[in-house]
Amino acid sequence: MLPSSLNPLGLKSVLGTEFLKKDQIQTILDRAQSLKSRMERSEPVEQTLKDKTVILLFFEPSTRTRASFELAAKRLGGTTLNLSKQMSSAEKGETLVDTARTIEAMAPDLLVLRHPSAGSAHVLDQKLKIPVVNAGDGFHEHPTQALLDLMTLLEFKKRLEGLRVLIVGDIAHSRVARSDIYALKTMGARVSVCGPPTLLPPFAERMGVEVFHHLERAVSDQDVIIALRIQFERLGAGQIPSRGEYSKYYGINSTLLGRCREDVLVMHPGPVNRGLELSPEVADGSQSVILNQVSNGVILRMAILELLVGDKIR
Ligand code: CP
Repeated sequence: MLPSSLNPLGLKSVLGTEFLKKDQIQTILDRAQSLKSRMERSEPVEQTLKDKTVILLFFEPSTRTRASFELAAKRLGGTTLNLSKQMSSAEKGETLVDTARTIEAMAPDLLVLRHPSAGSAHVLDQKLKIPVVNAGDGFHEHPTQALLDLMTLLEFKKRLEGLRVLIVGDIAHSRVARSDIYALKTMGARVSVCGPPTLLPPFAERMGVEVFHHLERAVSDQDVIIALRIQFERLGAGQIPSRGEYSKYYGINSTLLGRCREDVLVMHPGPVNRGLELSPEVADGSQSVILNQVSNGVILRMAILELLVGDKIR
């Protein structure tokens, strides 16, 4: 393992975007873009993770994040080991720290953690010698999702500085919103949020974002709309009146898109509640880049793994 002072990020772990500096975000985006360009030219990918093992410790369900970390590690020549809560001795009462330290004793090189508790990745980072990548900790942060969002924005809009980005929906429970807001603001974007008052955190304005409750007013002039999943597993009773009402006032459909800039980009971290956050014609429409986000997710995670533990990075 490279000491963090010797890796190009100067970081041991990637735990969130809150404290990532602009040059660190730029290093990650540049690395991802360089990997993407080489893959598009069908050049072989350097096996910078040969002889490295990445542990995927996922205590919550995931399709995109888990699969893309696994593919990312394997495309760089690494080995992966998957552990879920159900497959591990956590089911028998072992603590997260004991589970992680037990795995670390088997000499892996990096651990990717998804966990329902906010702060869990930070705890493991303190307890382990190997790097930890936060793949989503409760409602706190999901840094690699934010970074792949930035990669996709750069690809389609060619800039982040001054870009007007509206995040719509369940901001209060969204680790994606939090990580997106920190990263976008660090890179100079102008961020707004829109949702029902019950789903907007009281600190939204303190985060330096403009707050809207009326979607029709919020969308005009935005370059990008990021719709968020309604997180039914984290919602308290009564936070949205009904699915029908939520979709009527905060769902993105083609009528609403008609009020937006012609070149507005529609994003969603997935999984989409179809017909709730996005109508099917918008989710699958020409302005949606949801599947581009997924494809970029593999490459962005390759970049993170390489930068943290890869060999001989050029
Ligand atoms: N965006 C995201 O984190 O999706 P998964 O839950 O499928 O990983």
